[in-house]
Amino acid sequence: MSPRAPDAPAFEELLTQRLTRRHLLRAGVAIAPMAMMGPGLFASAGARASRTTQLGFKPIAGSKADAIVLPPGYTHDVLIRWGESLVSGVPDLDAARLDAGVLLEPKAAEHQRSQFGQNCDAIHFFPLNGRADHGVLCVNNEYTDDALMFPGHPGFRGIRGGASRAYVEKHPQVVAVAKAAQGVSIIEVKRERGRWRFVKDSRFNRRITADTPMSIGGPARGAALMRTEADPAGERVFGTFANCAGGETPWGTYLTTEENIQDYFAHLDRLQARKDVDPFIVEAHRRFRMWKNQSLYNWDVADPRFDLAVAPTEPFRFGWIVEIDPLDPASTPIKRTALGRFAHEGASPVIARNGQVAVYMGDDDKFEYVYKFVSDGRFDANDRAANRNLLERGTLYVARFDANGKGQWLPLVFDPKGPLNAAAGFRSQADVLIKARMAAYLLGATPMDRPEDVETNPTTGRIYIACTRNESRTLEPGTVTYGGREIDTAPNPANPRAANVSGHIIEITEAGDDHTASEFSWEVFLLAGDPSGGRLITDPAQVKSDSAYYAGYGNAAELSPIGSPDNIGFDRAGNLWIVTDGAQPHGGNNGCWATPTTGPNRGRLQQFMSGPVGCEVCGCQFSPDDETLFLSIQHPGEGGTTAEPRSRWPDGSNSQPRASVIAIRKEGGGVIGS
Ligand code: FEO
Ligand code: CA
Ligand code: CA
Repeated sequence: MSPRAPDAPAFEELLTQRLTRRHLLRAGVAIAPMAMMGPGLFASAGARASRTTQLGFKPIAGSKADAIVLPPGYTHDVLIRWGESLVSGVPDLDAARLDAGVLLEPKAAEHQRSQFGQNCDAIHFFPLNGRADHGVLCVNNEYTDDALMFPGHPGFRGIRGGASRAYVEKHPQVVAVAKAAQGVSIIEVKRERGRWRFVKDSRFNRRITADTPMSIGGPARGAALMRTEADPAGERVFGTFANCAGGETPWGTYLTTEENIQDYFAHLDRLQARKDVDPFIVEAHRRFRMWKNQSLYNWDVADPRFDLAVAPTEPFRFGWIVEIDPLDPASTPIKRTALGRFAHEGASPVIARNGQVAVYMGDDDKFEYVYKFVSDGRFDANDRAANRNLLERGTLYVARFDANGKGQWLPLVFDPKGPLNAAAGFRSQADVLIKARMAAYLLGATPMDRPEDVETNPTTGRIYIACTRNESRTLEPGTVTYGGREIDTAPNPANPRAANVSGHIIEITEAGDDHTASEFSWEVFLLAGDPSGGRLITDPAQVKSDSAYYAGYGNAAELSPIGSPDNIGFDRAGNLWIVTDGAQPHGGNNGCWATPTTGPNRGRLQQFMSGPVGCEVCGCQFSPDDETLFLSIQHPGEGGTTAEPRSRWPDGSNSQPRASVIAIRKEGGGVIGS
């Protein structure tokens, strides 16, 4: 553990530590299932107090190097690369032959079903036998960047993602490979002689893809909109894809999120031309911004369930939170429909003082919303089987941020006498959940600047929302039709900057520090961007479009500029760690930053890591002892092709770029950041 002398905690910290300790004790988290999970989820509050106000690493400067750059004294292991096989019977991807068309060979898709997926995103660590150096890692594989996989790929309108329709029609196998490369990779990992490695042939190793059978749970199970010709009962679905950030439950299961599912479904125009289809279905797909003609990935070429005109309700079976038991490789993943359907980015569960479980979630699109789910049932530390169904029933809320610094969680509940009724297109609670975005709009939720990851600080219980950016936020009041609704595009108190190219982070405190509360208070924690040149403000009331605000920290010279905060995470001391996906103020690559959230150094943000060319950095998961930081390096070399790679990371010289998970540690061991 950290040898550093403890800082004197402020009164507020003492108070919150006391509250946190009390509610953890009441929740009984120290017994059986938690013991199995190890000490990582809930460290003792005493241990937390030691590092809350200062981080001890020497910050790095922003970098354009095609490399992982870390502070002095830190190193990293490449834990697993896209295409590495999880089992001995299947070969590794021969990445040197990508430009020769290795992924167009007959067995490529079959092999990919046993290989680590592409474009890793969320990472969560599940300890085995309570150990911090041995566990099961669940990793999302969000999407395929087909230009970095297949030769002669002409690109698609300059948007990252799938191959052109002509290419997919010529090589329909592209779809099978892409479906196998997405979803979730589950691997056993171990630290031995200091270095991390994954354990080939572990019984825990598993791939979950866009074709893996899963069960539909919650109020939408069996609902009319969930039924298809292939599944007339609306209870089973093949696969999960577009899996972005994620979460872990206090009972040791993994939550994977389905984000940009709209990019896989084609032909909304053809569906609209069908006169026999319920107009509410078309309206719901328009609200989700489904593609009018061909889709970004053209999966419909090889699988008709991605053609809206053929399978009008298939998209309603995606856009959910999926619960997976990583310790039971034979278990069937369950789509938890009680948590609503939208472009899910992250799911952060926390046990409320009374034992109910709250899950905080973002919907990552421009002008979309922040949600909270509260379970009906209560966590029981002695009954893991009962906890496994806590996400089956509960209330879904959406956030409204008011100008006075207060806010409301608005319940998304079907009510024939309320706004969510049949005339508005909601015939049941299932309809409300399936069309959660439309319901949230009718309730007056606050449209945000792309709320990505939402996480709870383990020491204070405060909730942090990373809004990555929103260039469409206008200076003057105006309205646009976006995603099938009229939106006021002007800044609002929780999204205070026009042309928000750098993004921001909001901090929420629940009323009474109660995660089941229907009211909260909030403040801006960070307005990302360049803090130099007089742009740094210490009073958020002074905000202008080019202002930067680092939680009130006033010394610009000590800050590392940041842009486009995306995934976030916390160490056990409550320091906020932020990884990015987008332009940096001084033009560097994406990376990882950290700041204390309490004490005199609150907001003193410093850059910890820089990633290789073209990547975004995801994950942000600490091992239970805080001695390892796991990060995903997603889409290194984005913008290149197999013939002309822009990055050679991680293998250097003439190799192709490969998305990979890295494990960052201190040389000689020790707590990260101390
Ligand atoms: Fe998949 Fe919103 O990032
Ligand atoms: Ca993300
Ligand atoms: Ca992102």
